Amino acid sequence: MPLNPNAAEKLRAVLTAFDHPPKALVRSFGCQLNFCDGEKYKGVLASLGYTLTDSPDDADVILFNTCAVRAHAQSRVTGQIGSLKSLYERNPNLIIGICGCMAEEEEVRELMRKSYPFVRMILGAGAMEMLPDALLRIYQENGKRFETGGLDGIPDESLPTVRDSKFAASVPVMYGCNNFCTYCIVPYVRGRERSRSPEAIEAEVRSLVAQGCKEILLLGQNVNSYGKDLAEPLDFPSLLEKLDAIDGEYWIRFMSSHPKDATPRLIDVMLGSRHIEHHLHLPVQSGSNRVLQEMNRRYTIEKYRTLIDYTREKSADFSFSSDLIVGFPTETQADFEQTLALIDAVKYDNLYTFIYSPRPGTKAAEMEQVSSAEEISARMQVLLARQREISEAHNARFVGKTCTVLIEKYDADAKKMTGKTREAMNVEITDNAAAEYIGRMVRVKITAAKNWALVGEIEVPAAHL
Ligand code: SAM
Ligand code: SF4
Ligand code: F3S
Repeated sequence: MPLNPNAAEKLRAVLTAFDHPPKALVRSFGCQLNFCDGEKYKGVLASLGYTLTDSPDDADVILFNTCAVRAHAQSRVTGQIGSLKSLYERNPNLIIGICGCMAEEEEVRELMRKSYPFVRMILGAGAMEMLPDALLRIYQENGKRFETGGLDGIPDESLPTVRDSKFAASVPVMYGCNNFCTYCIVPYVRGRERSRSPEAIEAEVRSLVAQGCKEILLLGQNVNSYGKDLAEPLDFPSLLEKLDAIDGEYWIRFMSSHPKDATPRLIDVMLGSRHIEHHLHLPVQSGSNRVLQEMNRRYTIEKYRTLIDYTREKSADFSFSSDLIVGFPTETQADFEQTLALIDAVKYDNLYTFIYSPRPGTKAAEMEQVSSAEEISARMQVLLARQREISEAHNARFVGKTCTVLIEKYDADAKKMTGKTREAMNVEITDNAAAEYIGRMVRVKITAAKNWALVGEIEVPAAHL
């Protein structure tokens, strides 16, 4: 659904009558998909006449684009909203709203109505098209609240977007999730899988490459089920092949890839490509087949490891990262030890580890917790320490090699640059570091490996580029 032109025009007229230039703040929480939505919310607000700001103090609209994946993510948002109460009391024209995943939860809506009455706008996940209508109604019917559910479709392809980075961009390939892992709230708040058309994705990637974008991150909760719902089905590896055919100096990454649907063909396409990174984020969640079954993940550790072995046989440098949950309700110490055995065997380059957080309405929230909070926290410490050792030893495979690195940041105080290789390995560079490298791909000789990054020296200093 496109923006309602009528509401947008009327709203622009309301804003022109302000005695100051209207400003808007969008703060996103959670995953890359949510940050990508946040860029669209910013685009819509900018197209309506708002200047974007990072400061709540001078904002006329504050929109929290929320995440519901763990209780901690939610309490961070409610804490920050609570701290805005005094701002609203000083400026009752201030419009504070929430959108994103928490806005889809009935308990959160109820909490907002009861305890946060100064939150006057609740937009369901992916309802950015409703923003002009919502703001207009609140301005016209001063003091009124506006609430809407999410749109279970695909955001309009013509929605404006304000990108946070000049050289990296996220491109959703699909929305929603059909998997219903028993611990996860995402399918409840993001609806069922919907794929964007390959033509729209290709046009967006082509335009980003033409604008000089160097890293394009394709997003979906399970990109491996991309295309199943299209009138002319096209699988994810075939989409990657189409995108890889676009000429230019850029890399393509993607996440997340559900192990139940990841295939050797996916790996073959990645390794045979010109632009796709040699890195796969393959969230395993647990090393125990029993726990995986109770999580409804629908793969076994044996099947998972077959794909890793297949890849490693073809490329020793290829890197893997994963998500792991510690303290799933039925996880015992013996299950946890299987997780340790898995990370020893796979040697991930990076791990994202989470303590299980019960989400109301999910199946796992009904299960009895067999471990104490102390046991779970101790397991987490063991896991982190073990992974640090693994990373340091495994990262050493790059020492002595020369890699292409996309420079992402320059820290002027530390005179240090950081970037990533095509295998998504972090690299730190201190000699010849300079701000002008940001967003460029350079050749870097790797001289050492730490557990969180490689260390390298630039081969061609900026003056010679
Ligand atoms: N769709 C992705 C997949 O299946 O690989 C995961 C997306 S989810 C937003 C990111 C990660 O959050 C999951 O892989 C899982 O490790 C973690 N997560 C999800 N629900 C959780 C919960 N209730 N408690 C702790 N971690 C959770
Ligand atoms: Fe959540 Fe599982 Fe869907 Fe990932 S695949 S978003 S973990 S339900
Ligand atoms: Fe959070 Fe929603 Fe993403 S729950 S992790 S923002 S899909």
